[in-house]
Amino acid sequence: MLEAAHLSAAYGPVRALDDVSLTVGQGEVMAVLGANGAGKSTLLRTLLGLMPGAGGSVRFLGEDITKLSAPERVRRGLVLVPEGRRVLTSLTVEENLLMGAYTRRDTPGQAELDAIYDRFSNLAARRHMKAGVLSGGEQQMLAIGRAMMAKPKLIMLDEPSLGLSPRLTAEVFALIASLNAEGMSILLVEQNALLALEASRQALVLELGRAVVAGPSAELLKDDRVRGAYLGAAA
Ligand SMILES: Nc1ncnc2c1ncn2[C@@H]1O[C@H](COP(=O)(O)OP(=O)(O)OP(=O)(O)O)[C@@H](O)[C@H]1O
Ligand SMILES: [Mg+2]
Repeated sequence: MLEAAHLSAAYGPVRALDDVSLTVGQGEVMAVLGANGAGKSTLLRTLLGLMPGAGGSVRFLGEDITKLSAPERVRRGLVLVPEGRRVLTSLTVEENLLMGAYTRRDTPGQAELDAIYDRFSNLAARRHMKAGVLSGGEQQMLAIGRAMMAKPKLIMLDEPSLGLSPRLTAEVFALIASLNAEGMSILLVEQNALLALEASRQALVLELGRAVVAGPSAELLKDDRVRGAYLGAAA
């Protein structure tokens, strides 16, 4: 459903992404692994159309979206939950959720908000509170709920477990599994390589902006390069 070919991107003279290609199938979870600065966030930003001067092509749902703006890509169902959550702390939980629908041409109904609140009971209880009072885990759930309000067909999650306790990390991964079980396609950037490989069918390892390993996650779990560099003590 998402096919990207020969993507490249740079920040001024800094080449952050170099000839990366990937395919995410319908209903599939793909993991992107890599060290700090490897280009993972840049890859997601390039897929969303946020990197000026990016090279390569992106197809989504059978359509060439390479020249489309980010809001147009979001409108087609390609949605990013950015690194660091980026919730608006001075707005309420509900206002943040409604922000997620800003690219839509229709107005979200109460039933959609209720569906989010059914899924995230902590958000339901805090719907009229400022998002700034939420815990890190709750802010992550809010960021995902906000993305759901855009009616995504493929969600890109940039380090959703960053800074969360093991218990909250497990909650985020349970959420990823349930969204996927409902048919959502997911592109998951994660520092926790073991969890990411267990949660995905395919994976891609970036190093200095290049795809150095790619394949079925089950095989990467056994790959010596991946084990040595990314699974550390878990290997
Ligand atoms: N706004 C920016 N301006 C200049 N260089 C940047 C900018 N953002 C990222 N870079 C550089 O681009 C490269 C890739 O960064 P990117 O944020 O994509 O990596 P990442 O894999 O997401 O890292 P992390 O795990 O720390 O989130 C790095 O060398 C980084 O320093
Ligand atoms: Mg990043």
